Amino acid sequence: MSPDWEDGLFFGVEEIDVQHRVILRRLRQLTAAAAEGRAAEVRAGLRFLERYLGDHFGLEERWMAEQGYPGGREHERAHAALRDAISLARRTIDEQGGAGAAPAARIASALLEHLRTEDQRLGQFWTARENLRRLAEREPGTGVQLAPIPGFARAVAPAPADPPERPTPSAPPGVDAPRERRD
Ligand SMILES: [Fe+2]
Ligand SMILES: [Fe+2]
Repeated sequence: MSPDWEDGLFFGVEEIDVQHRVILRRLRQLTAAAAEGRAAEVRAGLRFLERYLGDHFGLEERWMAEQGYPGGREHERAHAALRDAISLARRTIDEQGGAGAAPAARIASALLEHLRTEDQRLGQFWTARENLRRLAEREPGTGVQLAPIPGFARAVAPAPADPPERPTPSAPPGVDAPRERRD
């Protein structure tokens, strides 16, 4: 697993992107601690994730409910499954001992997958909704700055193109081009 920041994790809303970066940093620390056998650090990392994700998932879920996000129910189910997996991993490590390298790796990969798929779809909806609001609220005759849609930013960016060639105006046959006046 390499939970480094990448384009595929871009959500498009600063508050959420900041939280996702915190989650990724903690996942890196968790997998490193598990791989190096630092059991106390792994348990502390899992406890942190349980708390932090409670707030983070709550924020996404409130917004999905307020905005009538069509995939809200599935997304909430995915959050619940992730929360259960983290508490189960913590209990397993508490009961069986060991540093929990395997459960930590499973959690890191499941969370990363969630960010890349369900969260990115939510980010696309969120950003598109925000763009519609900006378009609706702009003053007539003024421009509007639209936010890039996560995952589509490159696909919709206009490719640099040569300016279209404009034909040089020429006089129709039989008509002399106007001459410069020489007084
Ligand atoms: Fe998220
Ligand atoms: Fe989510």
